Amino acid sequence: MGNVFVFDHPLIQHKLTYIRDKNTGTKEFRELVDEVAMLMAFEITRDLPLQEVEVETPVTIAKSKTLAGKKIGLVPILRAGIGMVDGVRKLIPAAKVGHVGLYRDPETLKPVEYYIKLPSDINERELIVIDPMLATGGSANDAIHSLKKRGAKNIRLMCIIAAPEGVEVIKRDHPDVDIYLAAMDEKLDDHGYIVPGLGDAGDRLFGTK
Ligand code: URA
Repeated sequence: MGNVFVFDHPLIQHKLTYIRDKNTGTKEFRELVDEVAMLMAFEITRDLPLQEVEVETPVTIAKSKTLAGKKIGLVPILRAGIGMVDGVRKLIPAAKVGHVGLYRDPETLKPVEYYIKLPSDINERELIVIDPMLATGGSANDAIHSLKKRGAKNIRLMCIIAAPEGVEVIKRDHPDVDIYLAAMDEKLDDHGYIVPGLGDAGDRLFGTK
């Protein structure tokens, strides 16, 4: 069963408070999301494998460690996911970035991919799907299906805030996918907003409304 990790690091929780605050303006909101994404990336990568290497210091030869070459791919879901990519890339600069944009056809209720562009070797990469808000779980669920259909084997999901409803959908349909969060909130309201949440992440990141 997919695991759910909620990061309680004090810096993440402190910054999240200001992200939630309705009085936080677009510039500060964007900067805080960037910082939280970076801190979350630090936690998410804790289990990356290491290999032992030798390095010549000015004094002697030291046994030391480097990442064992596991390739990472970031897949932000359009559009709010884009707001977290730079923060993650500060810590994982070699990660390739794919993009997925989907919506539900209101008639058929089937997911329609209006944009998808991925690294060619997604089957070899550890993919981190990124979306700040896991609300109903619909978009993340469909994005993960799209990636699996194209050969992705190892997928993690990274969100800032989730509603229990969305987490349950991912756990049900993708039990192989671990979920990483800064907060698990109470519920969804009748409009699909997470309560207490932070409002519309895309609008707050990009200054639209
Ligand atoms: N998407 C958002 O941006 N906010 C929510 O509360 C739910 C979905």
